[in-house]
Amino acid sequence: MIVKKMTLEEKAGLCSGLGSWHTKPVERLKVPSIRMSDGPHGLRKEVKLKDDPKKTQTVKATCFPSGSALASSWDKSLINQVGKALGEECQAEDVSIILGPAVNIKRSPLCGRNFEYYSEDPYLSSRMAANYINGVQSQGVGTSLKHFAANNQECRRMSASSNIDERTLREIYLSSFEYAVKEAKPWTVMCSYNRLNGEYASQNKYLLTDILKNEWKFEGFVMSDWGAVDDRVKGLKAGLELEMPSTNDENTKRIVNAVKTGELDEKVLDGAVERILRIVFKTAENKKKNISYDKKAHHNFARSAAEECMVLLKNEGDILPLKKDANIAVIGEFAEKPRYQGGGSSHITPVKLDTALEEMRKIPKLGVSYAKGYEIETDEIDENLINEAKNTAKDAETTVIFAGLPDRYESEGYDRTSMSIPENQLRLINEICSIQKNVVVVLSNGSPIEMPWIQNVKGVLEAYLTGQASGSAVTDILFGDVNPSGKLAETYPKKLSDTPCYLNYEGEADEVYYGEGVFVGYRYYDKKEIEPLFPFGFGLSYSEFEYSDIKLSSESIKDSENLVVSVKIKNVSGIKGKEVAELYVGAPKGNVIRPVKELKGFEKIELEPHEEKTVKFTLDKRSFAYYDVSIKDWRVLNGTYEIFVGSSSRDIRLKSKVDVLSEVNIKKKYTRNSTVGDILSDPNNKEIGKMLLSKIGMNTESMGTDALGMSWDLVLRAFVSFSGDEFKEADLQNLLNQLNR
Ligand code: GLC
Repeated sequence: MIVKKMTLEEKAGLCSGLGSWHTKPVERLKVPSIRMSDGPHGLRKEVKLKDDPKKTQTVKATCFPSGSALASSWDKSLINQVGKALGEECQAEDVSIILGPAVNIKRSPLCGRNFEYYSEDPYLSSRMAANYINGVQSQGVGTSLKHFAANNQECRRMSASSNIDERTLREIYLSSFEYAVKEAKPWTVMCSYNRLNGEYASQNKYLLTDILKNEWKFEGFVMSDWGAVDDRVKGLKAGLELEMPSTNDENTKRIVNAVKTGELDEKVLDGAVERILRIVFKTAENKKKNISYDKKAHHNFARSAAEECMVLLKNEGDILPLKKDANIAVIGEFAEKPRYQGGGSSHITPVKLDTALEEMRKIPKLGVSYAKGYEIETDEIDENLINEAKNTAKDAETTVIFAGLPDRYESEGYDRTSMSIPENQLRLINEICSIQKNVVVVLSNGSPIEMPWIQNVKGVLEAYLTGQASGSAVTDILFGDVNPSGKLAETYPKKLSDTPCYLNYEGEADEVYYGEGVFVGYRYYDKKEIEPLFPFGFGLSYSEFEYSDIKLSSESIKDSENLVVSVKIKNVSGIKGKEVAELYVGAPKGNVIRPVKELKGFEKIELEPHEEKTVKFTLDKRSFAYYDVSIKDWRVLNGTYEIFVGSSSRDIRLKSKVDVLSEVNIKKKYTRNSTVGDILSDPNNKEIGKMLLSKIGMNTESMGTDALGMSWDLVLRAFVSFSGDEFKEADLQNLLNQLNR
């Protein structure tokens, strides 16, 4: 009704923003303007400075752990609660849509925005996203699932083309969005800057309409990333409803002219306007009046969230937890100036900021000495700082070194050039280890780093970028008030040249070929049998867990049925702790090239000392399927599938297997270029294959496989040439008709 009342100019105008953060109102029809602001891990609401409207600042908001940290919690309910808290803060700040979650797959550790993304695995990434979306939207605030799709590097992100084969695109890069769109129904999706197979995401009909809307039934609207629009009219036709930010009516005029000249069907414009209006009114209806949020409660929650995310990577001789009456040396400027978030559009102003040094100094009987050891703002080695740090560390029982990546090392807008931490930190760690045998390293980095010093230290706590309360969360874990339970959501490779896309990351001349295919992350390291520094899904605890008694609801299923896998997990230590049980599925060998195993389930459980619980996983068709481009659909091949349950992708504790029978009968289509092998391996046509071979004197019964081997890949049309007059073109056609009957 409203769309009918709107003029062409009003409709065209609604398809681009008002300024940087709003949609346009249509006052005469009571269409409100709504505001959107970044996320994803905290609200970045820009406001104009009172005394200088040209300048802006961002309002204070709670800084939660960033994406890579949150995913390391493997805790669906936690991320749902983070979403809820963000929704509350958006309501309090009159923000209707938060621009998150960011779910691009981590193709390389070098991507500058890896800190903001969840995982190298689409199953984990999409489950995190769905729970974040449900959390935020439960508060009547919308989300924007981003960046759709295949924005996996910052280098030339606005011009490069991500060139990906269909199967890889579906199984890896789109799967990270698919489950979230279908299960959590984000109110908006943000298209990415890059081109996908040559076409900008902002005008890519296959992405924005064929897949997102027609296949996945997305009902919200698509907004562009900021400045991602190339051809606005083409974008509208492709399914891009809202261009952000406003282009000061340049494109409004283009849309109006396109309708007037007939280039753009007005119904397409009306459809876009309707999608935008539905969400604008939905957010308006869900607006909560004068609500505020409890800043202290949110800070405390940010602290407990951070504690769930941190990953204990090494704990030799149980050096951790530290004693509260010990005499420790704290080394590294990150201890007093923590790195707790990434750079770029997600960078917010925290309400509060804990530091590990301050928090440790609050522990009554703890002896704490400190030296900063390096300057965060430079890579230059300062010998004085090194010597001062050595003097501080040499007499301590234990030395805790705070190290990692400074802000400038990882950010939106550019990629890292290596996986190394700064030289001055490497030197500091080596020097300290030369005079101190009890060293623990606490890391603040948003993506994997190389650790040449790993053999010389006894403890490593990966604190990631865990928000404004990371300083207190680190202290809670170091001293045992909290038992670490995080697991890596990405592989830590030993060196950059081990990484799957090492040969073609960033690409050339704006063409980036995803040559590694589906072999991203652990899928690659497993298949190539490359030993990582730390594997996907790895994380230690102060407790110890035993797995037993794997049971399957059936030994064989049809692909239309579910399978329930249950295992028992026991905490065999005297310390309460949490364990993440991970379930992987291994497909049978066959003609399809597949990873050794793929994550298809995970559950995080808390266990009292010596407590045992049963954990259940439900598998469905997609747990066994691959994407078959020949039928443009997900397909399960008949066969025996392996079920692995473990504490990490490389620490499989229990195995089982299940026979899966596909109910989908796919008719094989034979052509003149099908091979003998195709026929002989098709049960329905084996006899025909034998008859055919006999035509040229090849008796499959008596022949050795090597002779058969030579003809296995013979194409049918070749028989016309090789069989003398025995087999003519007409015979070939008859044969094909018979095979394709
Ligand atoms: C940025 C980012 C996107 C962000 C938007 C608004 O370029 O790519 O994630 O939401 O612009 O700041």
